[in-house]
Amino acid sequence: MSDFDKIGSHLPDPFRLWWREKVLSTSDEVRLLAEDGMEEGLVFVAEEQVSGRGRRGAEWFSPPGESLAFSVLLRPAEPKAFWYRLSLVAGLAVAETLEKFVPLVEIKWPNDVLIGGKKIAGILVEAGKDFVVVGIGINVNTEKFPEGLAATSLCIEAGRPIAREEVLLGVVNRLAVHSARLDEGFKDVIEGIRERCYLTGNQVSLTCADQRRKGVVKGLGSGGELLLECEGGTEKIHQADEVRIIRE
Ligand code: BTN
Repeated sequence: MSDFDKIGSHLPDPFRLWWREKVLSTSDEVRLLAEDGMEEGLVFVAEEQVSGRGRRGAEWFSPPGESLAFSVLLRPAEPKAFWYRLSLVAGLAVAETLEKFVPLVEIKWPNDVLIGGKKIAGILVEAGKDFVVVGIGINVNTEKFPEGLAATSLCIEAGRPIAREEVLLGVVNRLAVHSARLDEGFKDVIEGIRERCYLTGNQVSLTCADQRRKGVVKGLGSGGELLLECEGGTEKIHQADEVRIIRE
């Protein structure tokens, strides 16, 4: 019996919950199940991840009992060219859910979720041949972070512990709404991200296809690309490894 059992029957169709005490990574588990033909909508949550992964191969810190680590299996009907939009969709779903507990949640393009400039949630979207695994890690009741990590948690920001299952249910509900907006309706996702965009108006440095770019972020384009004002004009950045705000 886990804290999560009570929300299983409240998830919107076709989402359903699996809970495990300990796995290597929820995203690896879901990928294997997807390759074996599992239907879309699986929400795989684990109390402990032994090798939770972040983007660019980083380790993901998620202390058991405090944080929320889960992965969702989707099989989008839209063409593959739209699947990258799930990163933005997931970021918005998380931000909207956290706002039920705390104000002023920001999205750092493409999909980090921050409060007061500190990371509260991370998203890892990985595509297979005919599926996408959306891995989400949220610092819910984490009180202490490793030295040097600019991170915060819902409990620190709200000043009280928050039920992780409530957060999970909220995110899945919002994901159900926004993941149906990959093509028509994507403008509503973009609008939601623009309202919370951490980078807009800031000078940033980023790496894109192994090249460093510097410029001022003017906002987001209609396809979710970052509009970067550089010396030669406005560039549309579709993907970037690391985005850093330059503070003077
Ligand atoms: C990042 O910000 O670098 C992305 C972090 C993603 C972490 C989640 S936790 C659940 C899922 N399983 C993993 O191994 N990683 C993702």
